[in-house]
Amino acid sequence: MLYITGITGHSGRWFLKRLEREGYDGKLRCVMRENKSAAPEKYEIFENCKLDVEFVVGSLDDEAFLLHSLKGVRTILHIAGINLSPGIVKAAVLNKVDWVILVHTTGRFSKYKSASQEYIQIEDAILYLCREDQQGLRQLNYTILRPTMIYGSSKDKNMYRLVDYLNRHRLFPLFGNGGNLMQPVHARDLGNAYYDVMIHKDTTLNQSYNLSGAKPITYLKIIQTIRSLLGSKTAIVKLPISLSILAAKVYNSLFKNAVITVEQVMRMQEDKAFSHEAASRDFGYAPLRFEDGIKEEVEEYLSGVRIDFSDVRYR
Ligand SMILES: NC(=O)c1ccc[n+]([C@@H]2O[C@H](COP(=O)([O-])OP(=O)(O)OC[C@H]3O[C@@H](n4cnc5c(N)ncnc54)[C@H](OP(=O)(O)O)[C@@H]3O)[C@@H](O)[C@H]2O)c1
Repeated sequence: MLYITGITGHSGRWFLKRLEREGYDGKLRCVMRENKSAAPEKYEIFENCKLDVEFVVGSLDDEAFLLHSLKGVRTILHIAGINLSPGIVKAAVLNKVDWVILVHTTGRFSKYKSASQEYIQIEDAILYLCREDQQGLRQLNYTILRPTMIYGSSKDKNMYRLVDYLNRHRLFPLFGNGGNLMQPVHARDLGNAYYDVMIHKDTTLNQSYNLSGAKPITYLKIIQTIRSLLGSKTAIVKLPISLSILAAKVYNSLFKNAVITVEQVMRMQEDKAFSHEAASRDFGYAPLRFEDGIKEEVEEYLSGVRIDFSDVRYR
């Protein structure tokens, strides 16, 4: 029995597609937050699905639900979020689950403590719990997957906003020179990676992997690529970083509910490029180049604009 959390999310949907394409014949137990009558749209992804799926309805922060719903489970693919991992892992140990695959984040590598500290604490506690004892045995096997920023469709929470912004505004204020590196990963590459990790258990058991896009790309190049795909003429106005930080400080001192903090401005300068070499070696991970992956997202955006919003402000 494979227990899956986060199947309705951005990368979870791609994982489901891959399972279908492969004709996966094992039993699946999917966690849903609402039942079908309360949220029928969340169940649409299972329409015409030939997989052997059962649903359990509840929230992953509910300890009793976790303990009960994990009965008889051998493997967990936990996509729903690192903050829920401690509870899942605890319930997994109590239920004698064999293997937990945890989708976490490269956020743990940030040099800014406010961004990384909680992730490090959670992962270190899990790694300690899953360590080998003196006989070389573990109470739970793990695999940790760490995606970089996820993009790929209107379901992402980052790139789609940038696409929308660049389509609707004439000026784009860039904090710093945009030379910082990023390596966003397409949600489809993640969905495929979850499957490939599962079928390469011999090599992926008790390992951690970064899951990034094909190559690092500068933030400036990301903006220019999207702008060119949109056919937009938005001017990129580079603001010196010292000035940006000063402006953020003034803004934060004036507004209690500021939408951007000083540290967020500083973090924009941080490189977020991470090698996925280990994933390529161990389970053949071969992600898309950003320049290719973002095309679909921009196309979806443009077609969505035409279908959903006749509002001229978008055109
Ligand atoms: N977005 C990024 O750039 C980024 C970067 C690095 C890592 N990550 C992490 O990568 C993972 C995959 O991201 P994604 O974009 O594919 O996910 P996503 O689209 O954000 O979807 C999250 C999924 O988790 C479910 N979920 C959340 N809280 C839950 C709870 N308390 N009980 C039950 N289900 C719950 C959601 O269910 P509903 O359908 O009910 O909402 C949804 O299916 C996530 O853990 C995310 O935090 C994201």
